[in-house]
Amino acid sequence: MKVTTIGTGYVGLVTGACLAEMGNHVVCLDVNAEKIKMLNDGGIPIHEPGLDAVVSRNVAAGRLQFTTDVDAAISHGTILFIAVGTPPGEDGSADLQYVLSAARSIGQRMTDYKVVVDKSTVPVGTADRVRAAIDAELAQRGTPIGFSVVSNPEFLKEGAAIEDFMKPDRIIVGSDDDQATLMMRALYAPFTRSHDRLMVMDVRSAEFTKYAANAMLATRISFMNELALLAEQVGADIELVRRGIGSDPRIGYQFLYAGAGYGGSCFPKDVKALVRTGREHDQPLHVLNAVEEANERQKRVLVDKVVARFGEDLSGKRFALWGLAFKPNTDDMREAPSLVVIHELSKRGAAVAAYDPVAMSEAAKLLSHVPGVSFCERADHALANSDALIVITEWKEFRTPDFDRIKSELNQAVVFDGRNLYEPATMKLLGIEHHAIGRGT
Ligand code: NAD
Ligand code: UGA
Repeated sequence: MKVTTIGTGYVGLVTGACLAEMGNHVVCLDVNAEKIKMLNDGGIPIHEPGLDAVVSRNVAAGRLQFTTDVDAAISHGTILFIAVGTPPGEDGSADLQYVLSAARSIGQRMTDYKVVVDKSTVPVGTADRVRAAIDAELAQRGTPIGFSVVSNPEFLKEGAAIEDFMKPDRIIVGSDDDQATLMMRALYAPFTRSHDRLMVMDVRSAEFTKYAANAMLATRISFMNELALLAEQVGADIELVRRGIGSDPRIGYQFLYAGAGYGGSCFPKDVKALVRTGREHDQPLHVLNAVEEANERQKRVLVDKVVARFGEDLSGKRFALWGLAFKPNTDDMREAPSLVVIHELSKRGAAVAAYDPVAMSEAAKLLSHVPGVSFCERADHALANSDALIVITEWKEFRTPDFDRIKSELNQAVVFDGRNLYEPATMKLLGIEHHAIGRGT
């Protein structure tokens, strides 16, 4: 099939590359000329395991192209995925300007039947607005051309995006139109061969499903983070509690890890947007409101622990900080808890020596104005002359560090473990002061 993605970010690029991998002919469009040039020069603008190989293989096979040429891109695809950003507006609602601008572009240029697919995460009712925007352009041109609008939200996780796209838990298609449904079924058939994972539903339910999924996952995390804080007070270990409750299949083990708060481009913005939708409909989402508040607090928990240990005035202190990205296996710094920790430490006069396996150049762009921040080429280089180590992102390479080195290089053997990577009993034996989340000291 002929497919176009409008937007070549995390979702558009992964969608385009994976659809090309199944034999489709895909054009990925973006307004960012630098990004398209990089892709056409053989580069990949994001760190995403396995993406490079899929992209280069399909470019070489002539099935995957990148362009800034809107006319060519829209004329190419019969199926047009809108995969542009939907960042939070000032009031927390999803800003649909990029989605609606993509819709207008389609309406201005299409000359034959198109299936327009909302892949971006968009509030309930957006498909109607996309349809209206295309209709308005077609009316202006005086050209009646048939088209369908389908909702097909994306559930991939950064760091595991290729795997998630290739082997999805489910594919949600919101469609009120038989022809479009058939085309979406055909497009996704290779991804759902072992058993049918494609669910067709009405458009509004599909749009809602995406927010409900992210809100549920964020709720689990904030709930565990709050329990972790209480566990510290009552002398329980949240890790043991996690295993204890996760063994109940009704609860399950995933997304129950207490930590330094959730970040990323999606949970924070999607929780905000759903809270906002609730308000707009006079149906307040009290639980979700609390989820967001708890997360804002949680991003500061490591700072509270540092202040409790070293005092409010941190001038003259230096902290080694491992992990900047909002999660491992990505260089994405959007809403990363590390940013909050670094700002708060710097505000109190501390210096920070930071290391991340892939996110340092992204982080440097965001932190260039923050006093006292430096970046180290290796994790162990951050230790010397630092007063403590703070671990924020659970990269594999931090899981079994050289504890002797940590002990000997830090001014004081103190570790703030923001992702519960180390066992308190082991740390005690090693003589390292260990501050974890929800595990006592
Ligand atoms: P992104 O910022 O990485 O990419 C968006 C791209 O769209 C940018 O490259 C931008 O230049 C481009 N763009 C904007 N307007 C355009 C236009 N009119 N024409 C062509 N290109 C245009 O965003 P993302 O992380 O890929 O997210 C996209 C959407 O998918 C969001 O709604 C997000 O919530 C959702 N989503 C993201 C993820 C994820 O893991 N990142 C997962 C599931 C869903
Ligand atoms: C999340 C969802 O998992 C995807 O299904 C969804 O498609 C995506 O948002 C989206 O809509 O963009 P992502 O943000 O890439 O994916 O990463 P997650 O693995 O969900 O992690 C999000 C945050 O939660 C990270 O900061 C992570 O550290 C934190 N987290 C995760 C915890 O604190 N505890 C956990 O148990 C799990």
